[in-house]
Amino acid sequence: MAPRLYLVLTIFSYVLAVFSSPAHNETKRECDNTWKIANAVATKLQTSYFNPVLGYYEGNRLWTDANTIEDIYNLMYFTNVTTWKNLIYQTRIGQLGVTHLNLWDLVFGGSYDDAGWALLMFIRIRDYIGPGDPNFQNFETSTYQVYDYIAQQWSNDCGGGVWWSKAHTYKNTITNALYMHVSAAMYLRHKDKPGYLQNAMQTWNWLAGSGLRDRDNLWFDGLTACQVSDKTKWTYNQGVIASGLGVLYAATGNKTYLTEAEKTIDAAGTNLTAHGILKESCDDAVQSTCNEDQLIFKGIFTKHLQYYMDQAGDAARKKYSWFLTGQSAAVFLLATGLDNFPGSVWYSENKGGSIFTPRSMASGLEAHIAAAKYGYCY
Ligand SMILES: *[C@@H]1O[C@H](CO)[C@@H](O)[C@H](O)[C@H]1NC(C)=O
Ligand SMILES: *[C@@H]1O[C@H](CO)[C@@H](O)[C@H](O)[C@H]1NC(C)=O
Ligand SMILES: *[C@@H]1O[C@H](CO)[C@@H](O)[C@H](O)[C@H]1NC(C)=O
Ligand SMILES: *[C@@H]1O[C@H](CO)[C@@H](O)[C@H](O)[C@H]1NC(C)=O
Repeated sequence: MAPRLYLVLTIFSYVLAVFSSPAHNETKRECDNTWKIANAVATKLQTSYFNPVLGYYEGNRLWTDANTIEDIYNLMYFTNVTTWKNLIYQTRIGQLGVTHLNLWDLVFGGSYDDAGWALLMFIRIRDYIGPGDPNFQNFETSTYQVYDYIAQQWSNDCGGGVWWSKAHTYKNTITNALYMHVSAAMYLRHKDKPGYLQNAMQTWNWLAGSGLRDRDNLWFDGLTACQVSDKTKWTYNQGVIASGLGVLYAATGNKTYLTEAEKTIDAAGTNLTAHGILKESCDDAVQSTCNEDQLIFKGIFTKHLQYYMDQAGDAARKKYSWFLTGQSAAVFLLATGLDNFPGSVWYSENKGGSIFTPRSMASGLEAHIAAAKYGYCY
């Protein structure tokens, strides 16, 4: 039997088994089959699209590269796979983290959201290598430096929030959601520095009153002159809001943050999907209009839903388990073309509109990793 057909049948029989048994058992936490799929996609990505001499993925894009490197470490972090344990040292951004020369403005060029993505990656690397590693302190120093680089962008214009870019004309959801997340994450690792926690709480308070959240609990993209100027509801904004609130809950024990996060996750689950599968507004099975950045958004949503579930406890893990399983199954069954290459359209079979680049590939990989960790297993 072709492996894919076998998988369809096993998913199907599993679904039947679950719905026919009145009290099915707890979610198994690590799904071997899904890990294998994730591993195959990661292998293809690394062998075909990562250039170890130049230190970047085909296309050379800092923020999506940071996400992709983080994905590879996420894959290794929860399994005993060590295939890519030296990847960080082969990347440009990783080498900058080791040398920690504090030239971050040259690196990020005043794109403070890019700095936020890189900081998330540095935090993951730091956790992965652990304090016994000779480079631990170097990455740790980089986390402090990059954090401060972003924190300096807080201003009282529009009542608070960090700027998106050096032009100081746009305050947006992603830069502030990332700032909330990394502030709370830094606090969890440095509890002697309460300023991080204050920044995280202050950022949430600002976001909640900023006008960026619509009545349906989905978040717009950003503000120009303190008015919502981009009303697109991108999936990744919703995901990082949720994960940031999850980490803030972990730092405070205040369950209001979980309630707020789930309003947004639930709204994304009903409103940014087709038949339960994530669909970006630019996705179209026949003719997508997504740009290269947008190709990775849905995967970031799944990655940050996983990060939310890391913090939020068993009830949330159960609640979103099927959702993650569905995304991974759709990526595998509908989105993936030849040679383990996931395309950008997940909600439908490709009718010519799916776009295949290392960004769509990283996005699909993220869906598999999140489902391997918290999905149902088949
Ligand atoms: C689920 O299975 C595990 C081990 O297989 C068992 O210990 C546990 O009691 C079961 N839980 C339920 C709710 O049946
Ligand atoms: C991972 O490796 C550790 C140490 O070698 C071992 O104790 C553990 O059982 C392994 N876990 C898995 C899932 O293979
Ligand atoms: C929990 O967080 C919410 C939202 O920021 C806040 O309104 C509330 O006062 C907090 N509760 C406690 C007990 O600190
Ligand atoms: C999403 O929400 C908007 C506004 O609340 C509504 O107009 C739209 O129909 C919803 N779309 C879906 C697919 O649920």
